[in-house]
Amino acid sequence: QDPTRQKLVEAHELAVKFYHYFLNNARQGEKAKRYLRDRGMSDKLIDQFMIGYAPDDWDVLTKFLMGRGFDPVLLEQGGLISAKNDGSGYVDRFRGRIMFPLYDANGKASAFAARIVDEGSPKYLNSPESRLFVKSRTLYNLHLAKAAIRKRKQVVLFEGYMDVIKAWQAGVDNGIATMGTALTEEHCSMMRRHAEEVLLCYDGDDAGQAAAFKNIPLLEAAGLKVVMAVLPKGKDPDDYISEYGPDSFLREVIDSPVSVTKFKLIYSRKNHILLKEEGRKNYLMEAVAIVAGVESSTEREVYLKELSREFDISLDALKQDCHGMRLELQ
Ligand code: GTP
Ligand code: MN
Ligand code: MN
Ligand code: MN
Ligand code: MN
Repeated sequence: QDPTRQKLVEAHELAVKFYHYFLNNARQGEKAKRYLRDRGMSDKLIDQFMIGYAPDDWDVLTKFLMGRGFDPVLLEQGGLISAKNDGSGYVDRFRGRIMFPLYDANGKASAFAARIVDEGSPKYLNSPESRLFVKSRTLYNLHLAKAAIRKRKQVVLFEGYMDVIKAWQAGVDNGIATMGTALTEEHCSMMRRHAEEVLLCYDGDDAGQAAAFKNIPLLEAAGLKVVMAVLPKGKDPDDYISEYGPDSFLREVIDSPVSVTKFKLIYSRKNHILLKEEGRKNYLMEAVAIVAGVESSTEREVYLKELSREFDISLDALKQDCHGMRLELQ
């Protein structure tokens, strides 16, 4: 075991407790606490995820950790504090933000994601990469979700920390997220080690859809079966839970996934105005092109039959077009 690494873990673990204590007990933390409550987070949840608040001061954490004998150079490397420009000492890296501790797969505190209270930019600040924290290998909540992921053979992949936490409160014990939307091969093989299937539950906005389309092939290449959650336009899982409640979220979103093909069809449909003939025609051609990418001919027929019924087009015509597009694909 690398002793400086061990020291840095210790420093992070102390910082987690420090920020958490501050959120719950300091006057300064009250506004952040209220903000979290307004977003529907119970005290129990705040405890489970050890959410905290970084005081809006220059060097409270710096003094606290240096007072306990930690080497400031190490703390700076680990991203907990920053050296002042004039070289006269150190200041806290995170100030006046809500602190989400990030853990490695073994449950060791290794970094933070720091959210602004209310609105503002940047919304999140992450710790810099360090010997403890490598973004391409960090999956938020994996340490808590691992057992449930193995048991269910399924992992639910969210876009944001808040989504993981609120879904956890709703009963989703196998949810994780990346640090933003950049999904790597390493993330995928980490998931594959514990699960056979991934339920992709990204935000229901354009960015979320785009990220989903980008990541599906990566997940599939790692040998994961991909199924898709469908959210109303513009809503993320956390919004959905706040608006419609946890029961509806489990029933309508988590327990009602669709295939990747169906997801693409739903998405394409939303982008066309079906009340107009032109829109209908364009949607149909796009839909047939999506179905043309499906390997199983039985599955293709199921989708084409649905389209045929809904748009009152002969199945033969759809099949012919689909066949033509398949030839083009090859
Ligand atoms: P809330 O607004 O608190 O509900 O967060 P969100 O998770 O809904 O945010 P959003 O959908 O905008 O972003 C999804 C994820 O992208 C976040 O959870 C972060 O991991 C990441 N992200 C968003 N904004 C920033 C940012 O300003 N900086 C960094 N580093 N990451 C961000
Ligand atoms: Mn507590
Ligand atoms: Mn988003
Ligand atoms: Mn979001
Ligand atoms: Mn959100």
